[in-house]
Amino acid sequence: MLPAFQWKGDHLLLLDQRKLPWEEYYLRLRTLEDVARAIEEMKVRGAPAIGCVAAYGVVLALKEGKTLQEAVSRLRRTRPTAVNLFWALERMERAGEDPARAEEEARKIEEEDYRANLRMGELGSELIPEGVNVLTHCNAGALATAGYGTAVGVIRRAWEKGRVKEVFVDETRPYLQGARLTTWEFLKLGIPTVLITDNMAGYLISKGEIGAIVVGADRIAANGDVANKIGTYTLSVLARQHGVKFIVAAPTSTLDLKTPSGREIPIEERSKEEVLFINGRNIAPLEVGVRHPAFDITPASNITAIVTERGVVYPPFGEGLRRIMDDSDG
Ligand code: MRU
Repeated sequence: MLPAFQWKGDHLLLLDQRKLPWEEYYLRLRTLEDVARAIEEMKVRGAPAIGCVAAYGVVLALKEGKTLQEAVSRLRRTRPTAVNLFWALERMERAGEDPARAEEEARKIEEEDYRANLRMGELGSELIPEGVNVLTHCNAGALATAGYGTAVGVIRRAWEKGRVKEVFVDETRPYLQGARLTTWEFLKLGIPTVLITDNMAGYLISKGEIGAIVVGADRIAANGDVANKIGTYTLSVLARQHGVKFIVAAPTSTLDLKTPSGREIPIEERSKEEVLFINGRNIAPLEVGVRHPAFDITPASNITAIVTERGVVYPPFGEGLRRIMDDSDG
């Protein structure tokens, strides 16, 4: 699997996810501004990957002679919903101004994320019923992390264990993370993959064709409400209606216990062009009104289990999430 990013000591190689699946092209990011723009323009995306890349952005900034504060405040303005960004920047602030120490911290953030994914894959795969089709939304794979993936990690491990028949992937309008990125990953892994448009999920779930839904998360509030790619909430309602397991896989860096519920999570609104245009061509009259919320909130009550690297949490999530964080802090 091609890594989403690779630290090279004086620059960061970044697989340009806007060009996938047509072209596997690595950009060379050398400055703070290169990194900030790559995050804003979604050349890199996915909560854990954004956190890791931002950490290396701080290292590049310090090597350019910029202050830690300049770096952190520029990167904080890139994308508002994925809490991993703010979590990684807080760690970088604690590491301080010394570039060598900052580099060490950024590498640690990356390594910890990779290990967390392997662990979540192991734990989460046990929750997948035997011999079912699994549906996933957006891309929570190797491309969205330091490697292996969260939701994709769970599914690929479950597939290795013989539990998964086929993976169904929602195309994920408007940025098409499912169609362009997740199918690309699963095909590279040799896992049988079926692409559907977002509006086909309800029909297939109602026919009993999907045995589990596994998604990632951008931020998990203290009560277990989950912010994830727009469309996740809709799938959770379908899962509840039809008694299908709805599993969220996310590292503890995605937990935001300071935010009480999903209502307080900031939801990014992106440009209307991303909805109105496909491949440079408008798909509706240009003067139409357009909304583009990039994430939605899945209420904790629609979630079967949250898989983290520190264990699987079941309802009531408030208590369970606090416990896994307390156990490790104390
Ligand atoms: O807008 P994106 O592509 O950054 O959104 C990504 C998602 O919503 C993912 O599901 C989430 O970040 C988890 S990635 C392991």
